[in-house]
Amino acid sequence: MTSPSLDVPSTARHASVLVEARHVSQSYHKDSAVDLLVLDDVDLTLNAGEIVGLLGRSGSGKSTLLRILAGLLAPSSGEVFWKNEPLAGPADGVAMVFQSFALFPWMTVEENVALGLEAKGITGEERDRLVENAIELIGLGGYENAWPKELSGGMQQRVGLARALVVQPDLLLMDEPFSALDVLTAENLRTDLVELWSEKKLPVQAMLVVTHNIEEAVLICDRIMIFSSNPGRIAHVLAVPFAHPRDRKILRSVSLWTTSMP
Ligand SMILES: Nc1ncnc2c1ncn2[C@@H]1O[C@H](COP(=O)(O)OP(=O)(O)O)[C@@H](O)[C@H]1O
Ligand SMILES: [Mg+2]
Repeated sequence: MTSPSLDVPSTARHASVLVEARHVSQSYHKDSAVDLLVLDDVDLTLNAGEIVGLLGRSGSGKSTLLRILAGLLAPSSGEVFWKNEPLAGPADGVAMVFQSFALFPWMTVEENVALGLEAKGITGEERDRLVENAIELIGLGGYENAWPKELSGGMQQRVGLARALVVQPDLLLMDEPFSALDVLTAENLRTDLVELWSEKKLPVQAMLVVTHNIEEAVLICDRIMIFSSNPGRIAHVLAVPFAHPRDRKILRSVSLWTTSMP
């Protein structure tokens, strides 16, 4: 994929802590007597320069944890720090990509991508330049005026990615971003994303990818946190010591790991 790079400051990738969760627990009110404990004493640290995976079964609390890390949900107990400061609301510098794409059907590709910038008060030529760069970067050039319904799932998720990247977030949170796509489309998008990351063209410092696909986690991530369920806890943390681009042959080692999955 040949795309222009967005403005990535040369100092953008340095080993610093972006977000930390300390003893985070979350319960949801279930009925009058019982609360459902979804997350139990979760500790995690995300550093600039890494792609981290959150791998766990459906219902294990992954989306809940993402919302907490983004500052969209206050945990029942525990604390979240964003760049070493306690987080008390939506974090400035975090963008999200959703499994369902979450595009506005009455807006064109360009308008969907521009949304995040308008929320930040960036308008006019600056907005147009950033939108154009994000669209080109993610391979949507020529589709600026298309409606979401005219696009394949893969292209719709590219819009979701462009909309997140256009704000040049420090941290990109992705909640099962490839799960709604067919296998080949998912593979293409994943490969493009990792390639852009490796070439330092992505205007982000770190990515957290939620997935229930072990292969996907191994192909993308530098570090994988395996979640146990009921309640969600980080049961294992695995380093993936292979450089990008990764050969699918490394997946042979996955069978060893899966035997130790909770
Ligand atoms: N707003 C909510 N109110 C009540 N229960 C919720 C809410 N959000 C999630 N849950 C429950 O919490 C559990 C974990 O959900 P979620 O974080 O979406 O898990 P995952 O993303 O791993 O599938 C599920 O049992 C779900 O039904
Ligand atoms: Mg989820």
